[in-house]
Amino acid sequence: MEKLKIAGGYPLKGTVRISGAKNSAVALIPATILAQSPVTIEGLPHISDVEILKDLLEEIGGQVKLDSKEIVVNPADMISMPLPNGKVKKLRASYYLMGAMLGRFKKAVIGLPGGCHLGPRPIDQHIKGFEALGAKVTNEQGAIYLRAEELRGARIYLDVVSVGATINIMLAAVLAKGKTIIENAAKEPEIIDVATLLTNMGAKIKGAGTDVIRIEGVKELHGCRHSIIPDRIEAGTYLIAGAAAGSEVIIDNVIPLHLESLIAKLREMGYTIETSNDQIMVVGAKDLKAVDVKTLVYPGFPTDLQQPFTSLLTKAAGTSIVTDTIYSARFKHIDELRRMNAEVKVEGRSAIINGPTRLQGAKVKASDLRAGAALVVAGLMAEGVTEITGLEHIDRGYSFLEEKLTGIGATIWREAMTAEEIEQVQNS
Ligand code: EPU
Repeated sequence: MEKLKIAGGYPLKGTVRISGAKNSAVALIPATILAQSPVTIEGLPHISDVEILKDLLEEIGGQVKLDSKEIVVNPADMISMPLPNGKVKKLRASYYLMGAMLGRFKKAVIGLPGGCHLGPRPIDQHIKGFEALGAKVTNEQGAIYLRAEELRGARIYLDVVSVGATINIMLAAVLAKGKTIIENAAKEPEIIDVATLLTNMGAKIKGAGTDVIRIEGVKELHGCRHSIIPDRIEAGTYLIAGAAAGSEVIIDNVIPLHLESLIAKLREMGYTIETSNDQIMVVGAKDLKAVDVKTLVYPGFPTDLQQPFTSLLTKAAGTSIVTDTIYSARFKHIDELRRMNAEVKVEGRSAIINGPTRLQGAKVKASDLRAGAALVVAGLMAEGVTEITGLEHIDRGYSFLEEKLTGIGATIWREAMTAEEIEQVQNS
């Protein structure tokens, strides 16, 4: 096991290049199951979730080649192998295997997904969609069993706007007979990316990126080549890091439109932000203003940036209130920020931050992916050395984190943990 160490207070300057989007990658890879011939996806991030999905596709008979540039999946010989346990439990997005395997084989057995603990994360809307398409769905000993004689298009209204349910229903519906309409669909850019891949595979999808998606089922899908969109959450994290500790940081390979809500909030705090076609520049600032933030579905402020943004707000003068309307318990980073001297508390679904405070390096633990990002941002701002454990969470979502940060002047490195440290962390 390793820990991450950051010597804070070094001003960041330079350009960070953003990788392909994690939350697209984890849906695009399962989507390849639906094709009859090889699918190539370019520009995937180097994260552990991608490796796990590669292994899962191999478990069901796929031939998969993954290198630093692309993944090539030949799904021709895949079978509907039950996956009740094992690697499916390691990531949230294994739920996309349900939609994709149901779509292609009309049956699937998938263990209930793992992923970050952010409060209750039900999948009732996914199941509602599968059932509407004609599947019988049961939950037996922690695994979801799906079976259909045939899938038939249906009109499905989502009671909750859900990224996962929208994508999963698209995956199941593209090979169903007839027309499917998903109402109150999520509008995140990752949904458009998945719809683009499926369309290139021969699917007929209209309206992805709006709240009504219309799908006309087709008989068969074929291979294609697809280039993934940049990761707006990784880009947002570096933008926040640049604001927290930078003099001038340029985020490269980004779609600025995807980050309008974050850019607006940074400007409100007093930062100068400039955008061009595929870059965003943030210039460090003093005398920052406290701001309130409420997370919302896209294009609102993303819940995935709430945690790193909270770290940044410790720099602002006054009281900031950050409310997460998407997840009820995405505040596990707050106790750790307090260890670093932050004046912050949680009340209900809100974090209340009083600033400015000068953060101090401390030993802290990442409890989930974006909590890890929040602690990295805090470590870059803090005086002294911050030690972060729980790196398995960070490695699920950030490619080449140390290399990218070192490239803009941060002092950050990994060290092996001693047996005593491992025991302490496991017992904490
Ligand atoms: N929800 C339900 N029922 C459902 C599905 C969702 O009640 O059937 C609720 C959830 O509990 C949550 C809200 O609806 O309160 C939104 O959940 P959504 O389904 O949109 O989330 P998700 O698909 O499970 C994806 C990302 C998350 C990101 C959310 C929100 C992936 C693999 N994960 O999760 O990313 O926070 O959308 O944007 O795409 C992360 O990257 O750190 C991360 C957690």
